[in-house]
Amino acid sequence: MKKPEIFQLPKIEDPRGNLSIIEEEQHIPFKIERVYWIYDVPGGQMRGGHAFKEQQELIVSLSGSFDVVVDDGLVKQTFSLNRSYYGLFVPAGLWRQMQNFSTNSLAMILSSTHYKADDYIREYSEFLKLTLNNDE
Ligand code: TYD
Repeated sequence: MKKPEIFQLPKIEDPRGNLSIIEEEQHIPFKIERVYWIYDVPGGQMRGGHAFKEQQELIVSLSGSFDVVVDDGLVKQTFSLNRSYYGLFVPAGLWRQMQNFSTNSLAMILSSTHYKADDYIREYSEFLKLTLNNDE
């Protein structure tokens, strides 16, 4: 199974302000079919808390900070995102939750798929069953 990974994105430093870039299939290993973002998150709230069967994604903190907990069914890893030139690549098939959002945080998610409700695995017990059976 592929692993979650932090990608360092290009950063063009400039006294007028910095600039970063993401090109599909160049800085990330998939074509971008959808972009969405999460913002105005009240203190203490969590987002995500599910797995995707097919969707691969890159999660970027464009502003502020938050943590992404990625779980492969055996091991949980926490990634803290607080710079807009880092992206967390999350392959398909992993449980992921976003939490500890700072005030005014802005999370951008680049997705390899269009929105499909049936791509979600929302029950943790189902996720464990699918994941651990696949590993056998
Ligand atoms: P969801 O992905 O379940 O958010 P979270 O995992 O953070 O709880 O999405 C919340 C709602 O938004 C859900 O009703 C589906 C809808 N939605 C879309 O219609 N299109 C999208 O691309 C996304 C990401 C969500």
